Amino acid sequence: MSYENILVETVERVAVITLHRPKALNALNDALMDELGDALLRFDADEAIGCIVITGTDKAFAAGADIGMMAGYSYMDVYKGDYVTRNWETLRRVRKPVIAAVAGYALGGGCELAMMCDIILAADNARFGQPEVKLGTMPGAGGTQRLPRAVAKAKAMELCLTGRMMDADEAERAGLVSRIVPLAELRDEALRTAATVAGYSLPIVMMIKESVNAAYESTLAEGVHLERRLFHATFATEDQKEGMQAFVEKRAPAFRHR
Ligand code: CAA
Repeated sequence: MSYENILVETVERVAVITLHRPKALNALNDALMDELGDALLRFDADEAIGCIVITGTDKAFAAGADIGMMAGYSYMDVYKGDYVTRNWETLRRVRKPVIAAVAGYALGGGCELAMMCDIILAADNARFGQPEVKLGTMPGAGGTQRLPRAVAKAKAMELCLTGRMMDADEAERAGLVSRIVPLAELRDEALRTAATVAGYSLPIVMMIKESVNAAYESTLAEGVHLERRLFHATFATEDQKEGMQAFVEKRAPAFRHR
């Protein structure tokens, strides 16, 4: 598949997907989402890749689903064809870690896309919001579900009901983003973070991702049970032997399964 709405590149073991409809502030149309889904699944299956970064431009990570595209849709279009939302769950199938490097607007579907990633790094100019209410619709790609889990009910409710944007500081205080970095350093910092993750044992990293995600979809008892099973499973890997032996021998580990 050749891409027209995203750019892809690899930097050693890190894949970078740049959303690329700059004139439309990276509004997420079906073509872009098809390409994003295709690229994500390809990198997830690529043995040479250990971590994936999704980013946009300095002005917009993504300003939401494409309003021009949606404006003419009928209920039957969106329901029968699963229009707008049909590709949104692809990220859930990706087992390698995905980092959202967000600069500028992350609104509506843009905020929802960032929340589907495993880590959100924000530039100091980032702005997050769910403004769908202003368009006579509502978040449709997980916003009403993931935002309350990220920032708790009162703030999620306020953002969804008023359409107000929050800046990077507020998003960090609320727990939506893991860190804020100066805009000029966002890409390098995202690449550094991704390279750190990609330098570890891939199966171990995948188990950690699976376990942390279970915290959102299970009871505490079920999540702790899964964590224990996965923790025990790490002892079946060569990389656990190598990691601990290297510590004991005071040397850097050479993980085999990357
Ligand atoms: N869809 C389609 N086009 C969009 C867009 C969107 N979501 N957001 C911006 N654009 C386009 C504008 O139409 C404009 O195009 P033209 O130059 O051809 O007129 C271009 O991007 C630049 O936008 P602005 O001129 O509006 O830029 P600005 O700096 O004045 O404002 C903004 C920036 C505040 C982000 C404003 O563009 C805006 O409010 N965008 C819409 C945000 C929004 O409502 N997002 C939610 C979409 S619904 C959704 O996402 C549903 C879901 O949950 C899946």
